[in-house]
Amino acid sequence: MPFPIHRPRRLRTTEAIRSLVRETRLSPTQFILPLFVCPGENVKREIRSMPGNYQMSIDTLVAECEEVRQLGIGGVILFGVPEHKDEIASGAYAEEGIVQRAIRAIKRATPDLLVITDVCNCEYTSHGHCGKIVDGDVDNDATLPWLAASAVSHARAGADIVAPSDMMDGRVRAIRDALDREGCLKTPILSYAAKYASGFYGPFREAAESAPQFGDRRSYQMDPANAREAMREIALDLEEGADMIMVKPALAYLDILAEARRRFDVPLAAYQVSGEFSMIMAAAQQGWIDGERIMMETLTAIRRAGADMILTYFAKPAARLLA
Ligand code: PBG
Repeated sequence: MPFPIHRPRRLRTTEAIRSLVRETRLSPTQFILPLFVCPGENVKREIRSMPGNYQMSIDTLVAECEEVRQLGIGGVILFGVPEHKDEIASGAYAEEGIVQRAIRAIKRATPDLLVITDVCNCEYTSHGHCGKIVDGDVDNDATLPWLAASAVSHARAGADIVAPSDMMDGRVRAIRDALDREGCLKTPILSYAAKYASGFYGPFREAAESAPQFGDRRSYQMDPANAREAMREIALDLEEGADMIMVKPALAYLDILAEARRRFDVPLAAYQVSGEFSMIMAAAQQGWIDGERIMMETLTAIRRAGADMILTYFAKPAARLLA
């Protein structure tokens, strides 16, 4: 009979003991903060559904990045809100595009802050879809050159890592080929390998002004019902040359994260997306939950499931709490 010999509560008696036997630890270096850059000067426009997150002009963004660096946060991932959108997403791969200029400015001011860029077209197309529209649907192969050009323009501007989030087939290969052809052999690819068509992206689409003007993203993002398919998506991206992989969203997909951790020996990221953040913030503002506590609990859960790094809008408050 285990009891009374075995009393698991012994190891929960004090914080000192709990801390000693804790299996999962959080560090600010594991967090990546998503940031939204927009045109203008001295702009800091709060995103209504994401308290504490802003659309920022480049000058404001640079100051924010200095703060992020001081907090010891692992890095930032940039999303662009361009001046103009068009049918061919030209702002996504323009040499002087909003993200390209932001990268250069950040690298001038804080050269050792890790800068990741989101590679996608939805913020830059007039219709809000992630690629070129042909006959009412996103044309996969016609979209690949846009993505490759975006990735190269980001790498040339100084991005440390490029992260394609569009879910086109073959995009990792197309991006790797283009980067290598242009001499960017050292730029790693963090692939949003298992990205689901999720309602949790709602607030982000307000932040990035990237909601599709017709239809939805179900013909390219994954069906939330599918787990085996995620493993196949990840395997394909690794074959195509992805250096790191991501599962997105995080909390509702911890099974996918855990299975990916078990199967693939590469760095694994999870994206705690806008809706996950906003739900916690909203409930906390109502006084229905303890926001700080749930922030740390969810981040711990995502790490426990197997993520090495977490893209999260909580990066700053969580880093402050861990300091
Ligand atoms: C771009 C992109 C999206 C997110 C990250 N990259 C939006 C989408 O796919 O609709 C969502 C991030 C979030 O909700 O925080 N394709």
